Amino acid sequence: MSNPVQPGSLTGKRALVTGSSRGIGADTVSYLAEGGARVVVNYRNKEARALKLVAAIEAKGGSAIAVGADLTDESSVTELFDTIAAEFGGLDILVMNASGGMESGMAEDYAMQLNRDAQVKLLTAALPLLAPGARVVFVTSHQAHFIHTAETMPEYLQVALSKRAGEDALRAMVPELTQKGIEFVVVSGDMIEGTITATLLERANPGAIGQRKEAAGRLYNVSEFAAEVAAAAVEPVPEDNTRYVGDVSGFLA
Ligand SMILES: NC(=O)c1ccc[n+]([C@@H]2O[C@H](COP(=O)([O-])OP(=O)(O)OC[C@H]3O[C@@H](n4cnc5c(N)ncnc54)[C@H](OP(=O)(O)O)[C@@H]3O)[C@@H](O)[C@H]2O)c1
Repeated sequence: MSNPVQPGSLTGKRALVTGSSRGIGADTVSYLAEGGARVVVNYRNKEARALKLVAAIEAKGGSAIAVGADLTDESSVTELFDTIAAEFGGLDILVMNASGGMESGMAEDYAMQLNRDAQVKLLTAALPLLAPGARVVFVTSHQAHFIHTAETMPEYLQVALSKRAGEDALRAMVPELTQKGIEFVVVSGDMIEGTITATLLERANPGAIGQRKEAAGRLYNVSEFAAEVAAAAVEPVPEDNTRYVGDVSGFLA
């Protein structure tokens, strides 16, 4: 996949992508680093994986640091931003990619804790570091964005409801962000082939990916979707602060 971020166009910029040690987040943070941004690879537990990505970015001439933080742990988030303040002095791009809620053994309201409450706390904690001209991107799925008008698979329902609640809570912050000169974009995408989420949903609903693919015409893969997320961080803010990736016609009421 080609990088939508022009080489050197982000020189002097500083970016954090949450949940970026693997998958969509890892490709997004790599695209931003290739564009010249100094980046933070945020991981929850897997430090070794994050350090490997940092090394890969540096090997290509980029600049990156790995910072661990569980976004549902407020003190951990405080430490994350303290580290960024000390290392970078501020942030120009914040990509809110980390997500979850289908993990087993978590509290009943874990999806809401992570996808709504932790996202609002994260953005609130980031505000002192975001100067006018900064960009915030929230990553979500069509299945979550349209959950109030289009059905989803039962295994994904709590995640979808919580991500939509998170999106709504973040959108409610747009007036405050605008006042501070900070731009906000939601990126909504269809199921992404090759992700753990899509694999879990396919396992519970055999044929689901094939059906979505047929209905949508095509599905994006991880690097293609990450390129859209990276583009959302640098291109002009779209109408209604929303960048749709892939077909949405099947979700419209
Ligand atoms: N998968 C899809 O089909 C699809 C479709 C459309 C949109 N999206 C959106 O794209 C984004 C990335 O999706 P994905 O499928 O790559 O997600 P994912 O596999 O579920 O995980 C994304 C990242 O979030 C991190 N994370 C989870 N809980 C965390 C916590 N409490 N604190 C810090 N980090 C945490 C994970 O870290 P660990 O590695 O440590 O678990 C992982 O790196 C999400 O916002 C998702 O809604 C996904």
